[in-house]
Amino acid sequence: MSRTILRGRVLSFHRAPQGLDDADSYLYLEDGAVSIEDGSVVALGDFSAADISGAVVIDHRPNLILPGFIDLHLHYVQSQITAAYAGSLLEWLNTYTFIEEQKFSQQGHADAVAVDFYDALIRHGTTSAVAYCSSHPRSVDAFFAEAQRRNMLMVGGKVMMDRNAPAGLCDDAQSSYDDSKALIARWHGRGRGLYAISPRFAITSTPAQMEAARALVAEHPEAYVQTHLSENDAEISYSMELYPEAPDYTGIYEHYGLLGRKTLLGHCIHLNHRETGILAETGSVAVFCPTSNLFLGSGLFDRERLLNNGVRIGIATDIGGGTSFSMLRTLDEGYKVLQLQGQRLNPFASFHMATLGNAEALGLERTIGAIAPGRAADLVVLDARATPTMRMRMANAETLAEELFVLQTLGDDRAVAEVYVAGARAKSTLGGL
Ligand code: GUN
Ligand code: ZN
Repeated sequence: MSRTILRGRVLSFHRAPQGLDDADSYLYLEDGAVSIEDGSVVALGDFSAADISGAVVIDHRPNLILPGFIDLHLHYVQSQITAAYAGSLLEWLNTYTFIEEQKFSQQGHADAVAVDFYDALIRHGTTSAVAYCSSHPRSVDAFFAEAQRRNMLMVGGKVMMDRNAPAGLCDDAQSSYDDSKALIARWHGRGRGLYAISPRFAITSTPAQMEAARALVAEHPEAYVQTHLSENDAEISYSMELYPEAPDYTGIYEHYGLLGRKTLLGHCIHLNHRETGILAETGSVAVFCPTSNLFLGSGLFDRERLLNNGVRIGIATDIGGGTSFSMLRTLDEGYKVLQLQGQRLNPFASFHMATLGNAEALGLERTIGAIAPGRAADLVVLDARATPTMRMRMANAETLAEELFVLQTLGDDRAVAEVYVAGARAKSTLGGL
């Protein structure tokens, strides 16, 4: 098998940076060599010391090579309703989202959107993501089949929803159990696919369906769990009406055994003290979705409070409530959400969150999220001078931290010069570029 060496400036994190000066938290090589064989990184070091005999060398200087971005929460079936004009969450769901997702009963539609969805991920430098499909099993087949074709590590699952939505989107407790079970058997561990049991949220699941989800989680500890929690005031009130015996919103999922280290909870904005305690105790992950939270006016994610209470966190686009596939745009909006609360997020912490941090949230830090021997060669190459505005600004940037901050504040898919998935070029080989 041939060896490829990527030459460029390399940045990869060892752990969460505690501040701008925490240089021990990352590896930075000014002129680095990333050696790749059979889809994995086999060596990493200074280019001057690399064994380049027989290798194909691709020179990305002066660009930065990072681990590919990981998006911890998005809906592939909402790719075509991003930027829909709605007041708030429940109106947006009823007016646009539940209409759009019904189209995924058609295999041809699901297949076509899956192709566009993965093209969008790659264009924006995202090499792995955790996605909701629709309630139709064929939407899940389209999602994983296309991921497998591209050799991408993707997590996803069929949405379970049996009430408070159009009939064309509703399953029932038994069919959602049977379909999810069959999909886990078909897709979990096939290629790089991993399954997420996906009850949409408390409003769209009856207690009977929650019981079905409980059984699935108990029977499939290998699978992830994803749902939405505490996003919007009206959503919280309605959830409490539907589950009056629960002490709070988190208590609903707690009661049905859905919390744990493999559980990803989108939003987590309006949690009380008991709820943060339960999330910390169970090791569940609170997923920050800044562009979505701003777009739908849902509220401000309190990162500091969650971290201080020992809650694991991650960051995501939440397409199509979110407004961009770009993790750079997401980091920028996240920075602003935290600014509004007097919390500053330094650029090293931002890029850590979008790479190793999200890999750790998935428990996949031995596989993705860092550039190191033995890890998958899922990489993004970033150009901080990709646009005239970025070039103008970069004339005045002196440090790596400044460069990262320019990338996150001014960058988007144009700043993604190249992407590698399991060692293969993925962006420059997309059609139409
Ligand atoms: N809560 C339940 N479903 C959804 C969804 O599709 N998007 C968002 N943002 N919140 C939800
Ligand atoms: Zn969501």
